[in-house]
Amino acid sequence: MCGIIAYSGGRNGAALIIDGLKKLEYRGYDSAGLAYGAYGKINILKAVGKVNNLEELVLKNKVNSACLIGHTRWATHGKPSKENSHPHTGQPGAVALVHNGIIENYLELKQKLTAKGHKFKSQTDSEVAAHLIEENLKRTLSFPAAFEAAVKQLKGAYALVAMYNREPGVLMAAKKQSPLVLGIGKGEYFLASDVPAFLQHTKRAVFLEDGDIACIIPRGYKITAADGGPAKRKIHTIAWDNTSAQKCGYKHFMLKEIFDQPQAVEDTLRTLPNDIKKSFGISARRAKEIKGIYLVACGTAYHAALAAKYFLEHFAKLPVEADTASEFKYRDVNFQKDWLFCAVSQSGETADTLAALLNAKKAGLRTLGVCNVLGSAITRASDFTVYTRCGPEISVASTKAFTSQLTVLYALSLQLGFARGALSKPQFNELYKELLRLPALLAAALKKQEQVKKTARGIFRKKSFIFLGRNACFPLALEGALKLKEVSYLHAEGFPAGEIKHGPIAVIERGTPVFALAPKGFLEGKILSSCQEVSARGAMLILLTNDAAQNGLLLPRVSEYLFPVIAAVPLQLFAYYIAAFNGCDIDRPRNLAKSVTVE
Ligand code: G6P
Repeated sequence: MCGIIAYSGGRNGAALIIDGLKKLEYRGYDSAGLAYGAYGKINILKAVGKVNNLEELVLKNKVNSACLIGHTRWATHGKPSKENSHPHTGQPGAVALVHNGIIENYLELKQKLTAKGHKFKSQTDSEVAAHLIEENLKRTLSFPAAFEAAVKQLKGAYALVAMYNREPGVLMAAKKQSPLVLGIGKGEYFLASDVPAFLQHTKRAVFLEDGDIACIIPRGYKITAADGGPAKRKIHTIAWDNTSAQKCGYKHFMLKEIFDQPQAVEDTLRTLPNDIKKSFGISARRAKEIKGIYLVACGTAYHAALAAKYFLEHFAKLPVEADTASEFKYRDVNFQKDWLFCAVSQSGETADTLAALLNAKKAGLRTLGVCNVLGSAITRASDFTVYTRCGPEISVASTKAFTSQLTVLYALSLQLGFARGALSKPQFNELYKELLRLPALLAAALKKQEQVKKTARGIFRKKSFIFLGRNACFPLALEGALKLKEVSYLHAEGFPAGEIKHGPIAVIERGTPVFALAPKGFLEGKILSSCQEVSARGAMLILLTNDAAQNGLLLPRVSEYLFPVIAAVPLQLFAYYIAAFNGCDIDRPRNLAKSVTVE
């Protein structure tokens, strides 16, 4: 969904911008560009493809500037091309600007500007913003005033950063619905879509809020709120260290993040009781007031939400509705006022999830966010937030955020179950004790890496893969299939095992790989029957189990509701190795973006 990194300070920021763009490539990587001020002139370099191509240009041009704006693109309006990549300039070309989001009224603005003589060079919605600023500069000499006036004319979502050739060192920024963070260093400032882009240089960050306009001058910064008055924004100290945003010797971020999971879950568990108490206030009275839960999310986070439906129904005896945000927000939901609305999101910025949350808020529901990114839009919009603490997740395919979300939602189910009297104190204690073993259990599951790799080598040329699960393992079957298609582009589908005989079994033919999730427990016999059914039709069965009596990939013994959390590990590894053997670009899968900040 595009990544922005801008710098204004006292040193040459060229390498820093390239490095920041590489950290933001997960947001988009079809083209990249940068604008830099030098000797009262703005220079622009652009390259189609990954940031490496831009880096070559930057080195060739010996870029040396203390004020730069950079952008990596995920195309929405206009194909990936040099003309469509950012930064865009207006007319006569005194202003350069980068944008993340969608300007909804760009056609109308473009028409008006064209009538005034402006000529457009790209098909993007973003270019109009640069032209608007330059049009306004005809009437005012002040860059901040021209920028602010332009922003007021925009409808839609935007994070914008602009520079002007007559005011070296000055950066203007605006935020609405798309993320923008201000990094505060010693005598230098950064503006970025996400913290890892500048984490190496400063840990002090201000999360701009919707409607904010920031003005950076070489000596300081000023933020104006939507009402035009000065905005007092808290300076956060980011706890993530720089190494957590690095590959640390792993070939891909995805593999590193799969291996991060024991630590991520441990860190999540450590802060959880406090988080839950603070933000959710699980007192018996409050918990009893909750009559049901809406769980809403997208992608992988939706699969965590769907698994949580099973946890909450089982442990807390609460009715739960889990839905994808893009569906939920347009449904005629007959909101139950005494239900809790819970949005699950790694980034905290997903536009659909945020919109669904705002609908629920408007309907008067109490809202809870389960998020990984401090200060993100969903954390700000929710009444309460419980954090997953997995550090920055860079790989587009989500792994450690998923298991951390499951951890949070499982703990929440136990807490609610106990507070509502559905679980006795000894039951709660025993279940929570098992939950606390998760980091060790995940570490044990990771030991299956070689076995998974070997199996993946035998099946990576197959064209279609089926995943089966029941109960809390059904969402994991969906997630296993999603992971595989995201990184390998192969056809993969997940089903509730009991459903295959109602249609999907028709696709099984000799050699079709079928992954079946069969934890020891009350449904084990049922899932094994489904396995028989597919095996009888020639499927190549890959059983993930924790029952030593079965012939399959043997995982540690845990209760069946916790099984999906540890079984996520081999499924992630399967997806990884199948994609790796197919030579796919694992951390930057085609057509995808990590953070989807447009509808
Ligand atoms: C995108 C990503 C997915 C992610 C989904 C939800 O589609 O490619 O990996 O699961 O957004 O993201 P969120 O940040 O809300 O968890």
